[in-house]
Amino acid sequence: MSKTIRKVGIVGIGNVGKAAASAIVHENIADELYLSDIDSERALGEAWDFADSIELTPSRTRVSAVPVEELAACDVILVSVTERKKVISSSRLELLKGSAAIAYDIVPKLKKAGFQGIYVIATNPCDIITYLFYKLSGLPRKQVIGTGTALDSMRLRRQISEVIGSIDPRSISAYMIGEHGDSQFAAWSHVTVGGKPFDEYEAENADRFGTIDRDNVEEAARHFGWEIHKRKGNTQFGIGNQLAFFAKSILNDARVITAASAVQEGEYGRDGLSIGVPIVLGRNGIEEIIHLNLNEKEQKSFNASADLIKKYIDQTLA
Ligand code: 2OP
Repeated sequence: MSKTIRKVGIVGIGNVGKAAASAIVHENIADELYLSDIDSERALGEAWDFADSIELTPSRTRVSAVPVEELAACDVILVSVTERKKVISSSRLELLKGSAAIAYDIVPKLKKAGFQGIYVIATNPCDIITYLFYKLSGLPRKQVIGTGTALDSMRLRRQISEVIGSIDPRSISAYMIGEHGDSQFAAWSHVTVGGKPFDEYEAENADRFGTIDRDNVEEAARHFGWEIHKRKGNTQFGIGNQLAFFAKSILNDARVITAASAVQEGEYGRDGLSIGVPIVLGRNGIEEIIHLNLNEKEQKSFNASADLIKKYIDQTLA
């Protein structure tokens, strides 16, 4: 009985790539995990270090270091490359030049090597780099996915949980929509608590927590990554585990709904960009883009965020 061998590649074995690899090994997400980095010795050292840990984990993942072209045999390639030693101060957009240069280098190599799997991109600025991977790879848009506002949406759910009395964030449905950056916004009109619309839940519990300062909750979620960055110089475990979650959901055909940066073809009235929206994630990558009927204020925020992303995409592809 032949068993499907689950093959995951990670390109960029820095803090985020290592966190993703650790989650993949500890959750037994892959049978073969291939690490690739411009510093091949570093990738080899990480692969050997993981080999030391396997016996103590619930998996038998075989971890190896390979040149980027050999990732072409993978089902899923997680992209966590970033310009080495680049320090950013206020916007993920500061990474664009270096990240785009890396994309122009590695995507043609993987295309030539015949990669036909699914890209999951965390490299910032995520939406622009996701669209660049889409254009350079020639793969269908469902196979080129950015982590986008997935992490931001988790941060939003946690902030909401804290202000309404610590209901498990997994029982709250809430999305940050738009850029994985400063122009993202919370789709409050579609937040539910255990299926109850947030407006109703808030009104029925005013005696407990009054009226929620939604702008404050949204801002806290939007800037949570920066609060971490200010204190440790990067973010690592949230985004690394997010990459592993995407890989697991694809390999298991989970059909789970999550925010992600998805290439648009008019679902939200825009095209020619990748931007954070809810998707159904499964074996084929993006199985479906979920269209939320945004209210007027939200659609205005969506368009502003889309305009910003499009501006940088046009600059990068020029
Ligand atoms: C974050 O928000 C890495 O941009 C990513 O943590």
